[in-house]
Amino acid sequence: MERKLATILFADLVGSTEMGSSLDPEHARDLLDRFYDAMEAEIALGGGTVEKFIGDAVVAVFGAPAAQEDHAERALQVALWMQERLAELFGGRLSLRIGVNSGEVAVGRPREGSSFATGDAVNVAARLEQAAEPGHTLVGERTAALVGGAFELGEPRTIEAKGKKGGVACRELLRMLAPRRPRGGHGLASSFVGRERELRWLEDAIARTAGDGRPRLVKVMGEAGMGKTSVVLELRDRLPEGTAFRLGRCLSYGRSVTYSALADVLRAELGVRQEDPADDILERLAGREILGLTLGLDVAGDLDPRAALLQLQDRWVELISQLGARGPAVVVIEDLHWAAGPLVEVLERVLLDAEGPVLLLGTMRPDGTAFPAAEALTLERLADVEAAELAEAALAGPLESRALELVTGHAEGNPFFVEEVLGDLLDRGLLERGGDGWLLRDAAVDLGIPDTVRGVLAARIDMLPAEAKEALQAASVIGRSFTPGGLAALTGSSAELRTLVERGFVRPTEPELVFKHALTREVAYDTLAKAARARMHATFARWIEADDATDRRAGVLAHHYSEAVDPGIADLAWRDREDELARLSAAALRWLRRAAELSLGRFDLDDALSQLHRAAELAPGEADVWHAIGRVNALKFDGEAMWPAMERAIELTERQETLADLYAELTFETVMRGGMWKRPLDHTVVEPSLARALELAEPGGAAHARALVTKATWEDDIETADQAVAIAERLDDPVLLSYAYWARSGAAFITFDFGEADRWAQRRFELLDRLTDPDKIAHIHYYGATAALAAGRPQEAEALVRKHDLVASRLSPHHEVHALGVLLYVEEALGHWDEVRRLQGRVEPAVAANQGTPCVLNARTLFSCAVGCGELGLDGEARRLETAAVAQGYQDLGVGFWLDPPPAHLALLRGDLERVAALLESSGEMWHWSSDGSLYALATKLDALVALGRMSDAEEAAVPLLQPGTYLEPFALRTLGVVRGDRALTEQAVERFDAMGLGWHAAKTRALAPA
Ligand SMILES: Nc1ncnc2c1ncn2[C@@H]1O[C@H](COP(=O)(O)OP(=O)(O)OP(=O)(O)O)[C@@H](O)[C@H]1O
Ligand SMILES: [Mg+2]
Repeated sequence: MERKLATILFADLVGSTEMGSSLDPEHARDLLDRFYDAMEAEIALGGGTVEKFIGDAVVAVFGAPAAQEDHAERALQVALWMQERLAELFGGRLSLRIGVNSGEVAVGRPREGSSFATGDAVNVAARLEQAAEPGHTLVGERTAALVGGAFELGEPRTIEAKGKKGGVACRELLRMLAPRRPRGGHGLASSFVGRERELRWLEDAIARTAGDGRPRLVKVMGEAGMGKTSVVLELRDRLPEGTAFRLGRCLSYGRSVTYSALADVLRAELGVRQEDPADDILERLAGREILGLTLGLDVAGDLDPRAALLQLQDRWVELISQLGARGPAVVVIEDLHWAAGPLVEVLERVLLDAEGPVLLLGTMRPDGTAFPAAEALTLERLADVEAAELAEAALAGPLESRALELVTGHAEGNPFFVEEVLGDLLDRGLLERGGDGWLLRDAAVDLGIPDTVRGVLAARIDMLPAEAKEALQAASVIGRSFTPGGLAALTGSSAELRTLVERGFVRPTEPELVFKHALTREVAYDTLAKAARARMHATFARWIEADDATDRRAGVLAHHYSEAVDPGIADLAWRDREDELARLSAAALRWLRRAAELSLGRFDLDDALSQLHRAAELAPGEADVWHAIGRVNALKFDGEAMWPAMERAIELTERQETLADLYAELTFETVMRGGMWKRPLDHTVVEPSLARALELAEPGGAAHARALVTKATWEDDIETADQAVAIAERLDDPVLLSYAYWARSGAAFITFDFGEADRWAQRRFELLDRLTDPDKIAHIHYYGATAALAAGRPQEAEALVRKHDLVASRLSPHHEVHALGVLLYVEEALGHWDEVRRLQGRVEPAVAANQGTPCVLNARTLFSCAVGCGELGLDGEARRLETAAVAQGYQDLGVGFWLDPPPAHLALLRGDLERVAALLESSGEMWHWSSDGSLYALATKLDALVALGRMSDAEEAAVPLLQPGTYLEPFALRTLGVVRGDRALTEQAVERFDAMGLGWHAAKTRALAPA
């Protein structure tokens, strides 16, 4: 069994029962037979397969059993032919209702009286047929989308259908416009890119032909959609004046298609159109009527068929020679891969016997025959920049760079795929206008494979000989790359590899082979029946495990074992083999958990999560798995995902000790990573869980210490922090110690005891030797830096944030924003505005990448950049960044200490005192709450109060900050100097600033000093 994207046609004869009742049974049978024969002939002409006749209805399938890229066009063309033919046969006494629909079908062994193609798409086609008026055809939406502009269809409408909520969308078929869907479409613009070398090669071929004065054949080869037709049309536009250009197409199916390419050329020569009456055309052919064979006219008379062919060839030699006699000419034969033998014979005769500088230019796909032999130009994939250019030209505007990469990467340099992927995204409403270009609405979107592209690739795969195709499908189960041994494990042999390499499906790269295109692999994989696929995954997993059951293969084993027992198909794949299923499931679970641990070890959080989620799907009752999911989400700063997973683990746990651990961890992560909440932390959620942790934890144990750390941080309570430190020291657990010291440091910071805060923060560095988790190591550097800054050691702080950047930035998008946040915080405190401006280049993409997990630093880093621009006199840019920061949506979350000082700073620069006052007012006590944000907040507050003329407030705020040697001391001195008009104080401030290496602040202070 295989899965196919196919088009189904249902046709039903209307009026036959009434007619039948008045007829003798033998006559009625004869009528039905004539109907069957006629319909069968039309279906065959369109390359369809008769699925069955039921009574006086006929069902046909296009694109199955063998895939056809134009299955939808074929089906609609056949529907029109059937309608015409019926009218001819029965002249209005009988009529046909037809329904056509495309979709996924399962294609199986045909059985007597039953269908070989099944699926919902088939039922829908039947419903459409029932809803059609006699003599009319209704077309399903997916078919309509597939044929694009090739057919004229009526307005969309919806018909009611049993079992289909909301009905079925469809359109009425009106007429054919082109035998094949025109390329492009979707409202995309087009402009030619690249291919300069190829065009020069073709121009050279024209020149050489002119030099010889004799016809020559060259071929432009390339996979479907690679741009053969486009290159030829571009060549036409660049031809030197006086060069004649003719173009004809070979067709993949239809009536009188043998010479269709030459027919186009002949009509152009005669100046007639396809729809002109035969008599008119024959008149033009006077004396050389035999050419009419090219057009499918009945002109051979009694002539022996072989003699007629020879005469036809003679006339074509003559015709091409006449064309050449008028000057250089290019005759394009499009899609030579569909050329029939007689056409190729004509071309060969022309090459042999015709005269004149006529270049015969054939376009051809590489699959199938290489015939006729000729010099060939091969079109390779477009370079990434060209594909990008093509995409932006198609959209008539720039596309955000990440989306652009995603699309061009997915399309693999095939211009048709680029257009279809874009068109598909547009149709699905996933691309939207933003700024002066386009944005991808959802960065994590599955680009999928557009139906059109799927059709092209599936048809290519189905042209392989059966064994080679089987090998390709088996290889697709293994993955993008595979070894001959792996393939043999699945199919018993690797002999078919040669064909696959020759046909360009896979590329040998010692010791493995790779699918040239990921899309081909995906389509081959999708054609396999899911149950068979699952069993192949199992076979492959066993083969790997027998060979190498070490951690090195954990990811691969986890993948194949879990695919083998996919809950969506396991019942079918392992029917009546419960034991086997149980063994495979256990193996899947074991390897998934191991793989997740290893992924976590590499800090590959998304990998770990996807493995754990698969494990949870297989064993939803395992508390451990849910606990691990919670833990990984905490590392990812995804609070919304962490909570339900941890709660699930709690639900499934009975042991008190484990429960205490879970509650302690849940609340600790929630509070410690306060930035992962896009809403204010909910006290009614945190506090009961914290209370549970404290109540369940064994006194003096790890869970207890952790809960105390949380409580100390949550309540800014020194005494609780001390208790946590004491337990952690007794347990001598480095992670606990690190966070206990941190809690102690934070509690001191809040009371402006910067020396104490710094001492505790620096003690954490002694633990580094005993820690391995980069998330924990990063945390120590982050807070070590802000504490060092507070304690008046800005250079040390700067060194620490750089080190933090190295540790943290690549861990997750969230960590990257943290790395930038604290870098900016320190550079800003140092007045290094050029450095802030330089970091802006990293900030904007990092914030864009971190939209998945909320962080107040998304907004804050943008604000810092705005301040940097403001200080550098770039107010326009500052305003843009400020707006972008606000758009991140973290205002009103009680995090004023992060988000209010920078806009106040900017307002001060702009002299907008009203805004300064309003910001101070709205933030209130929250203005400088928090350890890491408060230094800049306090410094800015002093400047703001002075600027607002609130001198006594300024004095009151400055006095507690007069702590010798600290970062804030000179700010306080300066404020008091200005407030009291005391120059000695400002000079002292300058001195202190200089001593700390804060030159920019020193200069600013000099300018402020009272006379
Ligand atoms: N160099 C190019 N610049 C811009 N667009 C291109 C280029 N090459 C191809 N395209 C676009 O890609 C699509 C596919 O190109 P084209 O139809 O020329 O491919 P083909 O090789 O002739 O395919 P087929 O084998 O199916 O006939 C077209 O819509 C075309 O506009
Ligand atoms: Mg083409």
